[in-house]
Amino acid sequence: MRILITNIGELTTNVPVGEDPCGTLHDAAVLIEDGRVSWVGPAADAPVAPSISAEPWGSAPAGISSAEIDGGVEVVDAGGRAVIPGFVDSHSHLVFGGDRAAEFEARMQGQKYAAGGIRSTVAATRAASDDELRIRLRGFLDEMLAQGTTAVEIKSGYGLDVKTEERLVRLAAEVTPEVTFLGAHVVPAEYADRGDDYVDLVTGEMLDACAPHAKWIDVFCETGAFSVPQSRRVLEAGIARGLQPRVHASQLGPGEGVRLAVDLGAASVDHGTYLTDEDVAALAGSSTVLTLLPGVEFSTRQPYPDARRLIDAGVTVAIACDTNPGSSFTSSMPFCIAVAVRDMRMTVAEAIHAATAGGAAALRRDDIGRIAPGMRADLVLLKAASRVHLAYRPGVPLVAAVWKDGVRAV
Ligand code: NIG
Ligand code: FE
Repeated sequence: MRILITNIGELTTNVPVGEDPCGTLHDAAVLIEDGRVSWVGPAADAPVAPSISAEPWGSAPAGISSAEIDGGVEVVDAGGRAVIPGFVDSHSHLVFGGDRAAEFEARMQGQKYAAGGIRSTVAATRAASDDELRIRLRGFLDEMLAQGTTAVEIKSGYGLDVKTEERLVRLAAEVTPEVTFLGAHVVPAEYADRGDDYVDLVTGEMLDACAPHAKWIDVFCETGAFSVPQSRRVLEAGIARGLQPRVHASQLGPGEGVRLAVDLGAASVDHGTYLTDEDVAALAGSSTVLTLLPGVEFSTRQPYPDARRLIDAGVTVAIACDTNPGSSFTSSMPFCIAVAVRDMRMTVAEAIHAATAGGAAALRRDDIGRIAPGMRADLVLLKAASRVHLAYRPGVPLVAAVWKDGVRAV
């Protein structure tokens, strides 16, 4: 099956052109063959040349016009609107029971966010059946897809016993190859004051049960969760089992988690709400991505990290939602982009790049996050002539169509 998306007013390829990291093309077309992008260029040069009559985008109907033409090529007229790569959401916790709406309400009245809230979700998750968790999970993925997310990483971390952690990574592996074992999320109540014993469990029996389903090992390296030596033990045990490291760090205060992540060659260190100059310098000289989670600062009323400082220092940044019932219950990458532009001093182009190519870098994937020949055909057609509208029109559903692996999914 071949699909030609043509009459694209603004195409974000993420294949850098000069100073433009988004590799922006105007009046462009994309050809998709067998789930991959096979050609990208000016619409006038498309290898199949349909005679379509372009409508100005403003008068285009809510849907998109699409017609079958000879040679089995489906032609989609983008009507002059913008196309971007599908969002790569490289940090989420989608397998859990219950919610914490009351905790959120109390926080908006002045209560402080604390990692201890995780334990209430652990109780609800242990009590949920596989099918209940699976239905929830698939619901979240549907809402993400409708908002343009075509690749997602999913962590465990609300089981915190061998049986439940194994269930969570197994359920996550049903829907994504990007599965992260986060048995070291917090110390569960039954191990209170015995953190080292819990780390023995995580690095022993729990890792044995979970590693076969996972690609990544993660740890919450923070006061109130796991110390730097404990975090190192967890990550090194995962690495020894063939998992690749990523780290939650500097969410609640400054610490050494970012430098630990860089030291171990982690693909990404996530949060970075409180970064020191040493952290920024370590990141800048490394291949570790700093994944910003704007929904967390928004939902916990913490200060926004300064993305400008990171980008100007040469750090690679990603943006992800961190969808979870405690610190950030949004699944909307457009929302996170809008917040990053508004409050983290990113340009719109930088934020969209971070939410697509940045997420791919954070997952060490070279087949997603860009629109170029050979890449997976994950594309989003916006209901707008420019990607700027994603930040300019916060809260407005701007996704007109989504192709995932070359198949129209929305
Ligand atoms: O990424 N930082 C730790 N874990 C989650 C929050 C989990 C929760 O509050 O339930 C996070 O923000
Ligand atoms: Fe998280």
